[in-house]
This record gives sequence, C-alpha cells and structure tokens, in this order.
Amino acid sequence: MLEVKNISKSYGPIDAVKDVSFSADQGEILGFLGPNGAGKSTTMRMITGFLTPSAGTAIVNGHDITVAPVAAKKLIGYLPENAPLYAEMTTTTFLRFVAELRGYSGRVRDQKVEEGISRCQLESVRRQPLGTLSKGFKQRVCMAQAIMHDPKVLIMDEPTDGLDPNQKHVVRNMIRDMAASMTIVVSTHILEEVDAICTRAIIISAGQLVANGTPDELRRKSSLHGAVELTLSDASSDTADSLRALPSADRVETERSRYIVYPGNQETLYSEVSAMARDKEWKVTGLRTLDGRLDDVFKQLTVGGDFSNVG
Ligand SMILES: Nc1ncnc2c1ncn2[C@@H]1O[C@H](COP(=O)(O)OP(=O)(O)O)[C@@H](O)[C@H]1O
Ligand SMILES: [Mg+2]
Repeated sequence: MLEVKNISKSYGPIDAVKDVSFSADQGEILGFLGPNGAGKSTTMRMITGFLTPSAGTAIVNGHDITVAPVAAKKLIGYLPENAPLYAEMTTTTFLRFVAELRGYSGRVRDQKVEEGISRCQLESVRRQPLGTLSKGFKQRVCMAQAIMHDPKVLIMDEPTDGLDPNQKHVVRNMIRDMAASMTIVVSTHILEEVDAICTRAIIISAGQLVANGTPDELRRKSSLHGAVELTLSDASSDTADSLRALPSADRVETERSRYIVYPGNQETLYSEVSAMARDKEWKVTGLRTLDGRLDDVFKQLTVGGDFSNVG
C-alpha cells in the first residue's frame, strides 16, 4: 500500500530526514512518533508530494510520488499540521471548493460535500465561517477535506494536537473507523495515542528511524520490561542487598518500601523474588512483573526528546 524507500531531506547543512524506510498495509494505523523537530512533518510532506525529497521516494499502490505525482496524489489524503483553513469560508463552501479542486461537479460534488459533513459530524456547523469554529471542529473540517476522494492512504500530521480530551476522543474514534478501508499514518508526540489507536509505530529521532514495531514490541525494549516490582510494609535496611544477591537480579532501585529489581534473567526473576519474600517472611503488599512503558522506550531511543505531554 505505502512504501517509503530511503527518503531523505537536507536543508542546506541540516539533514532533517536521513534515509528513512518503512511500509504500511491496508487496515494498519501506523503511529509516526518522535520529539519536536525529529522530522515527522518533513517526511509526511515528502510522502504526500508537497516537498521533493533530496533522495529516495514513496510509492503508493505502485505509483512513485516523484515519478507519477498526479496518480499517486489521487490515492493520498493529507491532513497537514495546524489545520490550515480559509477563515471566511463556511464549512459547506469550503468543502464545495475542495470538491471542485478534486474534479467533482454538479450532483456528485454536492453528494461529496454531504458525505463529508456526515462522516465528520459537521451538521451543526455547516453554515458557520471556519474562523469561528473550535479547534476540534476545524480539525474535523480538515479531515473531511482529506478523505473526500476516498484515498487509499491517509497521512495525518498531529491530528489531535491542541484538542481537549473530548475532542481527542472524537477524532481518535473517527481515525479508528476509517482504518478498515485505508492505510493510515498518523504522527504524534503524545504517547498515549499509540496505545489508543495505533496497530504499529515507528520512532524517528534527529531524522533517523530508530524503532519499528507494535506497541507491545516497543515496550519490550524498555529497560523496565521484565523487572519485578516488590512493595513491602516492613522494609528493612538489608532488603535491597538481599534482592541484589539473587542469581537472576541485575540491579535494584529503591524508593521507600518499593523495590524495582531489574532482570539479569527474566525467566526466573519473579519466582526467585517471591521465594525470597516467603523465606524471609517479608510483609508483601505488592509483587508484579512490569511490562515496560512506552515513555521509557522513547527516552532511551530519542535525543533531545520533548515528551512534556506524557500523561
Ligand atoms: N523549510 C525548512 N528550512 C530549514 N530547516 C527546516 C525546514 N523545515 C524543517 N526544518 C528543520 O528540519 C527538522 C525537522 O523538522 P520537522 O519535520 O518539522 O519536525 P517534526 O515535525 O518532527 O517536529 C527541524 O530541525 C526543523 O528545524
Ligand atoms: Mg511537525
């Protein structure tokens, strides 16, 4: 469906995107993650044909964006960052304008406009000037614009950025509903989005791809993955030393009566910790193996990361 091959972009001495390759199939919602300035928007602009790559290309259903841009663009929907819209147009006039740009006229055009209004739930604002809409509605108008021609590949640049929690929820549900018939690539720097909507994610840092996998696969890269968390009500000064001496333990972090035992050997760590707690008759209030967290993986893999939005 979408194949990105060794795509690169340099702005003078700045390598904004360096040799990035990935692919995505129909039905996938691919999260495109990275801190601010990592190169997400630049990559998306190249994939959608708005920016010429310095090297490499993107192929949409067999159409190379650098060789056959018109054919490729027919199959691509693009939601740019910050929902750029004409403030003085109403929802209906804007969608009619977009429909005409896409080559629809007469009854088909009107039908496309109505479809967009219904798919993106814009009924209540159809006659309102775009400049007066809330950010959530603006984003939905942009979404209606992006999917009007039933694209096979939908590229969305931070579609939930700046929305309140309810608006985010609506937009995420819309993305999920659209996924069955499309390939979706959605950039974000909000990690909770990955678990909420993405079937797979790639991580970009300083222009380079540093990870590609399902949310669970990425979590497994976390140093906390497989660590055992033990909470005691009667911690003593030698507890950490005892845990550290376990054959399967690597190191131990302590915070009051909570211990994180990092694994040397994940297979056997949990049973060793639980056996020790029994033998020493510790008063255990919590014992569990950790999955690892996406934000740890991000901190590990990205440089100069800005993840202030991590919940
Ligand atoms: N037109 C441009 N001229 C020079 N540098 C640019 C231009 N556009 C983006 N950059 C730089 O390229 C890098 C990647 O930017 P961008 O793709 O917007 O990142 P992201 O979308 O991940 O925040 C940044 O260092 C940015 O400053
Ligand atoms: Mg961006």
